[in-house]
Amino acid sequence: MNKINVMTVFGTRPEAIKMAPIIKKLKKDRRFESIVVVTGQHKEMLDQVLDIFEITPDYDLNLMEKNQTLLDVTIKVMSNLDKILNKQKPDIVLVHGDTTTTFAASVIAFYDGIKIAHVEAGLRTWNLSSPFPEEMNRRVTDILADIYFAPTNVSKENLLKENHKEKDIFITGNTAIDSIRYTVKKNYTSKLLSEVGENKFLLVTMHRRENFGMPMQNVFKAINKIMNKYSNLHVIFPIHRNPKVRKIANEILNTSDRLHLTSPMDIVDFHNIAKKAFLILSDSGGVQEEAPSLGRPVLILRNTTERPEGVEAGALRLVGTDDRVIVREVCNLIDDFQAYNLMTKIINPYGDGFASERIIEYIAYIFGLTKNKPKEFEVFYEK
Ligand code: UD1
Ligand code: UDP
Repeated sequence: MNKINVMTVFGTRPEAIKMAPIIKKLKKDRRFESIVVVTGQHKEMLDQVLDIFEITPDYDLNLMEKNQTLLDVTIKVMSNLDKILNKQKPDIVLVHGDTTTTFAASVIAFYDGIKIAHVEAGLRTWNLSSPFPEEMNRRVTDILADIYFAPTNVSKENLLKENHKEKDIFITGNTAIDSIRYTVKKNYTSKLLSEVGENKFLLVTMHRRENFGMPMQNVFKAINKIMNKYSNLHVIFPIHRNPKVRKIANEILNTSDRLHLTSPMDIVDFHNIAKKAFLILSDSGGVQEEAPSLGRPVLILRNTTERPEGVEAGALRLVGTDDRVIVREVCNLIDDFQAYNLMTKIINPYGDGFASERIIEYIAYIFGLTKNKPKEFEVFYEK
C-alpha cells in the first residue's frame, strides 16, 4: 500500500504547539509519510516548542528577521516553499490557523495544485481589522482549502455561511487541548512559583498588532493600578519577543518585586504556571482555548474574539483594553469569590484532547484508507 504523503507547514509558536500533537501521531502511523516544514517566521519561540515535543523539521526556511514586515514573511514563505512543494509533491499540505505563514503557504500550495487541509478552520470575528491581519489570513486560507478541520460546531457553521461544502468539513476539537496532555505535570514546581509563594498572581500575555500603542499602554496602566490596590498580588508576564511589546512594557509598567517580567516561557512552564494563576489576562488566541482545561478564567484584552464558545460557556470574558474596565473586572473577580468560582468550572467547549487523533482518522477516511467516517467532536452541557 502506498503511504499518504502529508506535509505540515507552520512557522510560529502557536501553530507549532497545535501541530505538534498531529505530527507526533503521523510519525508513528505507518499509513503516512510525514514531512515537516517550518518557515521560521518565529525563531526562539518556535525552537522552544520543537525542543519540548522533540520534533526535527525536514526543512527549516529560517526566515525570521528582527522587526520583519508582513511582506517580508509573505515573500520568503512563498518563494522558498514553492521549491520544496515541487520537489516533495505531497498528497496533502496541512496548514494551521491564521498567521502569515498559513496564508502564504496556502497560496503557494494552491498555485502548485496541491490539496490543502486547514487545521483550525472557520474561526471568524467577521471584522477584517480585528484581529489584523489574522481574520484575512484565515478567510483566504479557507477560500483556498479543500478540507476543513473545524474545531467546533460554531466554526463549522461559519464555513457553511461562506458556502463551503458540508462534506469537506470535519469537527475535530482544537489540538491546543491535545498539547495539554503532554505538558501538565502533577508535581510541577519552579523558581518563579517559589518567588510568588502562597500569594495570588495574575498571568499576563499580550502581543497582537492591533493592540500596539494606546490599547497596550492602557492595559499596562491597569496592571499598575491593580498592583497598587492589592499589596500581596503578584503579576507574571512572559513578554513576547516582539521588541514593540517589550518597549511599551518597559515604558509603562512600574517596577516592583511583585512584577515578574520573563522571557517567553516554554509550553511546559507556561501551562503549569497558568494552571496555578488566579486569573489570566491575555489577547492570545491559544490561551483562550487552553484556559478552561486548566480551570483558569481569562479576561480577554480585545474587543472581538473568533472564539466565542468560551465566552458563552462562562469561562472567558471579553473586556477590551480600557484600563478602567480592566481594573473593575479584575477587582470584581478578586473580591467576589462566587463569581470567580463559576468561571473556573466550565467544560472546555474547544476540545477534549483528542483532536489530533480525529484529524488523522479523517485524513485516512478522505484518502479511502477507512470506510466509515469517524465520530466528530461534540461537547455536552448539563442544562
Ligand atoms: C505572529 C502572528 C500572530 C500570532 C503570533 C503568535 C502573523 C501576522 N502574526 O505574530 O497571528 O498570534 O505570531 O505569537 O503571522 N520575534 C523574535 N523571536 C521569535 C519570535 C518573534 O525575536 O521567536 C520578534 C521578531 O522581532 C519579529 C517580531 O517578533 O520580527 C514579530 O514576529 P511576527 O511573527 O512577525 O509577528 P507576531 O506578532 O509574533
Ligand atoms: N505560550 C507559551 N509561552 C508563553 C506564552 C504563551 O508557550 O510564554 C503558549 C500558550 O500556552 C498558547 C500559545 O503559546 O499555546 C499562544 O501563543 P500566542 O499567544 O503567541 O499566539 P496566538 O495563540 O494568539 O496566535
